[in-house]
Amino acid sequence: MRIEVPHRSERFGAVRIHGVQEVWELDSGGDVGAPDDPQVWQTIHHVPRGAISQIAKRMAIVIPVKGERFKVLDGVLSGIPHDCLIILVSNSEREPVDRYRMEKETVRRFCRLAQRSALLIHQRDPGLGAAFAEAGMDALLDEDGLVRNGKGEGMLVGLAIAKLSGRSYVGFIDADNYVPGAVYEYVQAYASGFHLAESPHAMVRISWRSKPKIQGGKLFFNRWGRSSQVTNRFLNLLLSAYSGFGTEVIATGNAGEHAISLDLALRMQFAAGFAVEPYEYLNLFERYGGVIPSPDPDVMREGVEVFQIETRNPHFHEDKGSDHVQEMRLQALNVLYHSPISVPDVRNEILDFLRTQGVIAEGEEPPQELLYPPMATLDWDRFGRVLGDKGETFRQIEHVVPTSVQVRTPIPEIPDSESKG
Ligand code: GDD
Repeated sequence: MRIEVPHRSERFGAVRIHGVQEVWELDSGGDVGAPDDPQVWQTIHHVPRGAISQIAKRMAIVIPVKGERFKVLDGVLSGIPHDCLIILVSNSEREPVDRYRMEKETVRRFCRLAQRSALLIHQRDPGLGAAFAEAGMDALLDEDGLVRNGKGEGMLVGLAIAKLSGRSYVGFIDADNYVPGAVYEYVQAYASGFHLAESPHAMVRISWRSKPKIQGGKLFFNRWGRSSQVTNRFLNLLLSAYSGFGTEVIATGNAGEHAISLDLALRMQFAAGFAVEPYEYLNLFERYGGVIPSPDPDVMREGVEVFQIETRNPHFHEDKGSDHVQEMRLQALNVLYHSPISVPDVRNEILDFLRTQGVIAEGEEPPQELLYPPMATLDWDRFGRVLGDKGETFRQIEHVVPTSVQVRTPIPEIPDSESKG
């Protein structure tokens, strides 16, 4: 993949945010270190196919899914590069129709034909709740001991399973993407970002070039999503408040498609529901921005890099309506308003915006979103053991190689629901 060198990068303490980098070539060939024109080096990074593949082998892709169409899910699976491990975390209905079972069938069929492995679980599995409780993560559970509903919560489940699988990077891809080629490009971009990172602590966020909509019977290629415009504006305002210089460097406040080095992800706090992506930026600034003391001096020393890569494929996904968009942008502003590093100017602008939108009245404050503690200190042995014993929906789809009749189980030491009989 050939990716533009970022025009500018901005710092917030130990966090370096690279400006948006365009993809120039989806596949730039396989040779590492092939001689390129030195003048081109200064403007374009060449990430060889071999380097992408090395990183893909160490990456798990989490697909959070809640009631999406099976055909669309099947397309998403087909776009995930072969070397990545697929982890599907479902919060779909089990009754009257068991949609999780059908998702499982879709993944199983895909994996059989593509000869690859996958891990699946239902977010509301009582055994999964028990595993989190025993491992020290009660905060994620509701009063019935089940993992709470929400996309952020589904991502945390995926992150925990990625940790068990021993992969070094975790990426997220929504299940409602209509363009398998876009999915493929996102994962290539994740791997390219990690390849370019100078720090072991990195995050890669996707900024799509366009999001097509049908307007007046014609295709219109929208540049920005409706919630991104608001989230980015306020996150940039926070950066400017600290640096004293106006900036538009953040273009991916809401990026659902993103990837994080696993060790960093385990040290971070995540927010509930759709506050999850904007809060990732905030939490990096809170922990590593140097405004409040950091719990991780090693990360402060090595720094954190955030890449924002502008992909070529259009982002074409299920439109869930304007109430949903409004909910997403409000959740982003709620976390920004209540962050310990927020400043009066930013808080006042948020209040003004929310009042003009009719969301809060004079004298009211935005609600707090739930924030979860980092998962780094979980007892992973216990988590795996309880999940293997009690996880009724936990399923490992094994990669069978017919010639030598070898079976490759993603997490060999943990039994799944079917191997228990
Ligand atoms: N496991 C799980 N649990 N998955 C969920 C849940 C849940 O409670 N809620 C939603 N999902 C899945 C959906 O099925 C979909 O695959 C993905 O999470 C994103 O949810 P959508 O409801 O489709 O969100 P969206 O498309 O409007 O917004 C997406 O893009 C935004 C940026 O424009 C999301 O990725 C947002 O998080 C993102 O900010």
